[in-house]
Amino acid sequence: DKPVVFAQEPSERAGTEAVGRILAAAEELFARQGFDAVSMNTIAEAASVSKANPLRSPRRAADGGRSMPGTVIEEDLVAKRKIVTNEALDAYLTPQRDGESEIYSAIRHTLLAGGFRWRPVMVLTVADMFGADERKFLPFACGVELIHAAAMILDDLPCMDNAERRHGKAACHRVFGEAVTILASHQLLVLSLKLFHETLNLVDPDAVRFPRNRFNSEYEHLMSNMIVGQTKDVLATGKDLTEQEVLFTYVRKSGALYEFSTRLSALLAGATPDEIESVSMFGRFLGIAYQILDDIYDIEGGPEEVGKDIGKDVGKPTFPSLFGCIGAKVRMHHFKNQALEQLLTMGEGAASLRRLAERIVPSKALL
Ligand code: IPE
Ligand code: MG
Ligand code: MG
Ligand code: MG
Repeated sequence: DKPVVFAQEPSERAGTEAVGRILAAAEELFARQGFDAVSMNTIAEAASVSKANPLRSPRRAADGGRSMPGTVIEEDLVAKRKIVTNEALDAYLTPQRDGESEIYSAIRHTLLAGGFRWRPVMVLTVADMFGADERKFLPFACGVELIHAAAMILDDLPCMDNAERRHGKAACHRVFGEAVTILASHQLLVLSLKLFHETLNLVDPDAVRFPRNRFNSEYEHLMSNMIVGQTKDVLATGKDLTEQEVLFTYVRKSGALYEFSTRLSALLAGATPDEIESVSMFGRFLGIAYQILDDIYDIEGGPEEVGKDIGKDVGKPTFPSLFGCIGAKVRMHHFKNQALEQLLTMGEGAASLRRLAERIVPSKALL
């Protein structure tokens, strides 16, 4: 095809095709692994009774997983959700217009390098928890990962944390330069918005459950809070902040996106106002605990284990700098417990989310 010199008209088609590719990737993956279930909960039940579960780890398979009820299933589900997210990102992140090849090279380098995908897994887990078809939430799950990536590639720039590696690979600006990295970050935010609207259209086409202007204000709230958090963070270097001031930063730079992931997923899945409030607060507290863990890793983590350079927070007020690593760990567990407490009223229905919290902020990180 010969390149078009003038920009194309905005095309509904591009977005729809992209979502089509995501859903096809998910379907293909389920099919390849021998599962034909609408809900991954059904997959979980099947996995718990099937002797030939292809995802069961050999270590656990020895006793059929009986010694730790639920664990095997949950590990499979987290792994599966992560794989599906990776496939969806791979399918979605392709140039849609002329001239986008360089920006997408930077984006693909950033997004396909690796990552835990905790936020997308949380979106899918919450959707499933409230009985929604989580495959329709994949664009949304990818969207939150794009926001995370957009924040991280700026965070690594020399004018911010000056970090050279992420997920064991060169940081975006080390390969593509600072200018392209800043532009890629903008492109990622725009794409995230598009993906969210695709999910809204899949899940709630008539905007009955979720008016679009409400979505816009949720998105604006998230982005503004993340920007405040990062601003406070970069300006804090060399300053003495109080515990409350550091917490103010944590809630915004990290808690906000965790909260958005659980909150919007619950909203779209049709949860009740009480349930939405519970999972929102769960996300916020877990995000704080996760940031404290990240700050502890900056001191105690092996560079191979974390896939990025450590010692980047020297001179920055963090919980470990205020309270030492032990004091920070105590507080990390306090916030993780606060997160879990939010789910108490939801009983067994929130079991998968509880186990996910244990994966994200493991109790063994206390040691
Ligand atoms: C980044 O915090 C916070 C955001 C989510 C934007 P850090 O600067 O501590 O993150 P890492 O250590 O570089 O991953
Ligand atoms: Mg930072
Ligand atoms: Mg950083
Ligand atoms: Mg850090």
